[in-house]
Amino acid sequence: MSEEKSSELHKFYAKNLEERLSILKEFSGLSEEELNELRNYGSLDFEKANRMIGNVIGSIQFPLGIATNFMINGKDYLIPMAIEEPSVIAAASKAAGIARKAGGFKAESKESIMIGQIQLKGIKDFSKAKKEILKKKKELLEKVNSIDKVLIEAGGGAREIEVREIGKGKKKFLVIHLLVDVRDAMGANTINSMCEKIAPEIEEISNGKAGLRILSNLAVHRTVKARAVFTKKALEESFKGQGKGGEIIKGIIDAAEFAEADAFRACTHNKGIMNGVDAVAVATGNDFRAIEAAVHAFSCWKNKGYKPLSKYYKDKKEDLVGEIELPLALGIVGGATKTNPVAGISLKILGVKSARELAEVIACVGLANNFAALRALATEGIQKGHMKLHAKNIAIMAGANGKEVERVAEKMVKEKDVSVGKAKEIMNESG
Ligand code: MEV
Repeated sequence: MSEEKSSELHKFYAKNLEERLSILKEFSGLSEEELNELRNYGSLDFEKANRMIGNVIGSIQFPLGIATNFMINGKDYLIPMAIEEPSVIAAASKAAGIARKAGGFKAESKESIMIGQIQLKGIKDFSKAKKEILKKKKELLEKVNSIDKVLIEAGGGAREIEVREIGKGKKKFLVIHLLVDVRDAMGANTINSMCEKIAPEIEEISNGKAGLRILSNLAVHRTVKARAVFTKKALEESFKGQGKGGEIIKGIIDAAEFAEADAFRACTHNKGIMNGVDAVAVATGNDFRAIEAAVHAFSCWKNKGYKPLSKYYKDKKEDLVGEIELPLALGIVGGATKTNPVAGISLKILGVKSARELAEVIACVGLANNFAALRALATEGIQKGHMKLHAKNIAIMAGANGKEVERVAEKMVKEKDVSVGKAKEIMNESG
């Protein structure tokens, strides 16, 4: 009988890489070749990765590609995107090329205001507590702003205090919202420190007991809007054989209406947007979980139900207008944007000067990917484009090399059978 393996590892974090790998070898039966894959670091070597998180054994890499053709607020950008899904970067680039013909994307962002929450429990007199806190607002803001000198020097700082009553009866409590302009940081650390530091003072003023003191990821004040026009003419020229420009536009508007009417479709519609958003967020070392949490909650909060983040309509010239609005809490200073060397390089390629500019760029990429997905869905279907790229992966999996990859992939798509078996068959045919 084989011995039971235990995942209870004592001080795994304190072991060096080779010790960690030998534990994995034992536990999971990893081969020497597989261990070498783990040892094969990219630019995020063991030392760097080990400083970023605990229990490191390697780093997993995504392809990093460049989306081309983007013109945003009159400026040209090359946009790094880290993603494993084959057609996302090509789709964003193609959409940006079409938008470019009508002047490119226009985007605007609001200030980088994040919300910190301080929960207050055990309040006896809610209106008195609320009044007392708001009476001391100026002093509280001054106190908060004495915490982070660097932020103040950068022009940021706490701007406002709001008090909310939550729940009913015995479950009722107060929540203080601390609104802080975090400038070019994502802001979680700044906000969390501020909330923890100011909580005792607020407890005293309100006669309450502080519960949670933490950032809210629902960044309703830190939103971005982007817009682009896709002309009938450009659509017709770009998608030859797929109908008149007006027909393509009608198909896209219908597809967007489907998302507006149905949460099941809205979710997938928004997933297409997040293909672009997350890929740039990952490339620049940003916290994509925070972004995901924020956008979906924002949609529900704003619309009193889950809705698409974008909308499409026709302008006076009967061309298609796409618009998007979403919250984007991004940083270009601190965190992985600094510790992961490739994130720094991505930011350099982008050439953005502020977190707000990065947010504007990302909103446009989200809109571009959304437009591209709706266009494909409303015309030829999504699988054709997907399959072209997917077929290359399948060809490689079947053992194709060099120019053979392209040839085998093309033939599989043409013959509408994209599988390893088919790829092998094609390769055997040509000897
Ligand atoms: C796939 O990653 C994204 C799409 O499903 C988006 C959409 O349906 O709008 C194609």
